[in-house]
Amino acid sequence: MKRARLAVLVSGRGRNLRALQAACAVGHIAADPVLVVSNDATAPALEFARQCGIPALALEHTAYASRPAFDAALATALRAVQPDIVALAGFMRVLGAAFVTEFEGRLLNIHPSLLPKYPGLHTHRRALTAGDHEHGATVHFVTAELDGGPRILQGVVAVKPDDDEDRLAARVLEDVELKIYPQVVAWMARGELRCLAGQAMFRGAPLAAPLGLDALEETFR
Ligand code: GRF
Repeated sequence: MKRARLAVLVSGRGRNLRALQAACAVGHIAADPVLVVSNDATAPALEFARQCGIPALALEHTAYASRPAFDAALATALRAVQPDIVALAGFMRVLGAAFVTEFEGRLLNIHPSLLPKYPGLHTHRRALTAGDHEHGATVHFVTAELDGGPRILQGVVAVKPDDDEDRLAARVLEDVELKIYPQVVAWMARGELRCLAGQAMFRGAPLAAPLGLDALEETFR
């Protein structure tokens, strides 16, 4: 089976990118990273991509007159590599409807909350402030609605009494994000997961609710 072509959009440290790259490198994901794009030229994720020999592109959003202009440049860069999957991994830009329409069905995002709770920013702080006993992360298809696309896989962690924002964020990242993202991309690369008319389809059946950590294959636990 032809290996999928994976593009990854980043803005920061790239811990999710590293997990995706490693899973591709050992064959846990039947995909090849073909491009990493960051809207911040100083993102450590870009340097990591270069060290791995993955084409790495900085598209500084400040260099573009408008959001549509940035989105158009990003679309042009992606079109050139013909990605089967575009994974937003710590990517901190909101993408416009025209961009999403062009790549919809191939666009994934990981968000550090149990969506639909806490779309947007500062999710760990909001969970702590609310006194939540559980928190986590969600991988979803990207649609024009910010953090609102069909949810695919979620992982839950307990909030501990001595948690602060950093401690909780680190646990969500380590215990959930770095497992669920490679798993979802692996399912996509195998053709087991699709987005059809705004609905996540997993192994031929619609996903009415996101899967949980119990759905993780041994490889990704
Ligand atoms: C992660 O918490 C991710 O969920 C969010 O951005 C944070 C940084 O991700 N979208 P990374 O280290 O750049 O992958």
